[in-house]
Amino acid sequence: MTEVEAAAKIAELSAELDRHNRLYYIDAAPEISDLEYDKLFRELEVLEEQFPNLASPNSPTKRVGGAPIDGFEQIQHAVPMLSIDDVFSEEEVEDFFKRLVKNLGTETVPVIIEPKIDGVAVSIVYRDGELEYAATRGDGTTGDVITENVKTIRSVPIRLPEGKAPTILEVRGEIFMPNAGFAKLNEDRDAAGLQTFVNPRNAAAGALKLLDSREVAKRPLDFIGHGSGQLEGVKLKSVTDFHDLLDEVGIPKNRPIWHADSLEGILDAIRELDEKRHELEYGTDGAVIKVIDLADQEQLGATSRAPRWSAAFKYPPEQKETLLKSITIQVGRTGTLTPVAELEPVFVSGTTVRRATLHNQDEIDRKDVRVGDTVVVHKAGEIIPEVIRVVKDKRDLLSVPYSIYDEVDGKCPSCGGPIEQPEGFVAWKCVNYACPAQMATRVKQFVSRKALDIESVGTIVAEKLVERGRVTSPLDLFTLTVEELGTFNIGTDDEPRMLGEKNGARIVQTCERAKNEKPLSKWIYSLGIPQVGESASAELARLHQNFAELAESPVLQELRTFKLGQRKEDSPFLAEYEIASEVGPTVAGSVLDFFAGETGRALLDRMAELGIDPKPDNYAPKPAAAAASGDAPLAGKTFVITGKLSAGRDEFKAKIQSLGGKVTGSISKNTDFLLAGEGGGSKRTKAETLEVPVISEEELEAMIS
Ligand code: IVH
Repeated sequence: MTEVEAAAKIAELSAELDRHNRLYYIDAAPEISDLEYDKLFRELEVLEEQFPNLASPNSPTKRVGGAPIDGFEQIQHAVPMLSIDDVFSEEEVEDFFKRLVKNLGTETVPVIIEPKIDGVAVSIVYRDGELEYAATRGDGTTGDVITENVKTIRSVPIRLPEGKAPTILEVRGEIFMPNAGFAKLNEDRDAAGLQTFVNPRNAAAGALKLLDSREVAKRPLDFIGHGSGQLEGVKLKSVTDFHDLLDEVGIPKNRPIWHADSLEGILDAIRELDEKRHELEYGTDGAVIKVIDLADQEQLGATSRAPRWSAAFKYPPEQKETLLKSITIQVGRTGTLTPVAELEPVFVSGTTVRRATLHNQDEIDRKDVRVGDTVVVHKAGEIIPEVIRVVKDKRDLLSVPYSIYDEVDGKCPSCGGPIEQPEGFVAWKCVNYACPAQMATRVKQFVSRKALDIESVGTIVAEKLVERGRVTSPLDLFTLTVEELGTFNIGTDDEPRMLGEKNGARIVQTCERAKNEKPLSKWIYSLGIPQVGESASAELARLHQNFAELAESPVLQELRTFKLGQRKEDSPFLAEYEIASEVGPTVAGSVLDFFAGETGRALLDRMAELGIDPKPDNYAPKPAAAAASGDAPLAGKTFVITGKLSAGRDEFKAKIQSLGGKVTGSISKNTDFLLAGEGGGSKRTKAETLEVPVISEEELEAMIS
């Protein structure tokens, strides 16, 4: 194919994909199957790979996110992004409407009433039909440019259909996380042992702040347009015209809406929306009233804060009284004990609430919540059931303050192991490494890419192996046989599904490989020792040859005695090791305690039994000393890694470190080299601006040898 032919084909495929995207996400009327869509997508991808200079940044293939960036640029809004004045009662709606009537000098004023979306305000600007940029509201005048993140949202068109777009179209609207997507995301995060989000708005805001758009692409975000900013090449008379324009170009608009031109009409609409709002896919705590006619809007004008032609009626958060029947204690996947209020079922903000988290002992004390109390519940952010307070007048005289510790008698309700309140934390935690409630999390960390990389043991298999009691310690994975895995049920009892011999064989094989090949650092990290993350593991592996040495480490014994403010350099013994900041007294103490305890000892014994003795990470026993004396080829050099390399970044990082070099996350003038593979856009640009040499893998090899 010639370049000219390719260009034509790319244009055709892009337009076709844009159209199907619109049919699917906006019109909910797809014309082709997912499979056919994927085929077109792949065809475009292949062409863009063959002709990289023809690949547009606005191609439909660019929705999966690009290379991480170092920070957001800022942009000044062409028209300031204002706020809306809130009104909190029907009387205040009346005042607002009277002001409209008075200022416009008419009896009736046509307005629309629509849901207030609880999301994050954004401005999306199209120039000549192409998405030019997307920005946050910021302070109303200047916002962050979040184009790459917004492009991952499928309902936001990247190109508008030909011939229909004005020269400049700035759409303002909300990015939000639909309630269903939010629930699923939190479930997944909880399963992965990650902190869950408080409400969909926070989850959406958090996603948009990510610097890695590939991560954003994984979050279920959506967009609805509700207003215009800068417009050129189009004349609109009313909000209705604007809605028609949105339809024309395929940008989602807010629904349902109501039309009214009198106070009574507005109040009816507000009441009707209140009935419906809990069925909407996004959180809404208000009704926005807007004057429809744009000439009227202009006449009414704006204060520096908000337009005078709009108001947001805020619904009072619904609160209900109910009985707190009991408090149960849940053991989370990371061992945290969470008290949960078991309530007499009560209907609040659209659903029946039966349970509500009481968070932790501090919260229980602060609200003085006791079993048998009548409590007031609401939904935080209209979503999460919460006990607000106790109705003390209705309290039983014989009730007693509630203590989590007493309730569980100092033992984990899941395994009977000891519980602790780690310093600086409000929650009680089960510290038994073998606690079944935490075992799935442990196994998942053990097999994760950053640990032993036994990814053939996926999340589901790991969960099922633990659930069915086949794996009660991560090391049990090394005792699995092809035969038993072949018939292992990864479905449910009602709907069994066998893992199959082929998968079984792959699992056994990868386990075997990990057992023999993974270095000490990966093994240390895989165990999930409290306080010991990836970097600390790497540093511990640098300082020790094997687990036996680590368990009895004189370096760690000295280090754990250090007090706050005391410096490692002050100890002649420690100074020699040039220990990185990732390993301090806390980590040292945690590691020593772990291996001195029953769990750690049992793990070491079991490893010996299974013939597991991980190799040290590198060949230089004291690279720090070598680095200091200048023997290590990369001593004193700081690297940043970007782009697509022949192996994982972690591998290159380990290599550079083993040769005395340092690897950091972002480029500054202190960076000596940027090791760049294919792509690596923003870091490459930054390196060039700061005149940091950009080197390839081959050049790194040459440097080392
Ligand atoms: S119209 C000049 N309509 O609420 C502002 N805004 O609290 C006119 N919002 O910054 C905005 N849902 O981001 C409008 N249906 C809706 C909305 C809405 C949510 C946001 C908007 C605004 C904020 C003010």
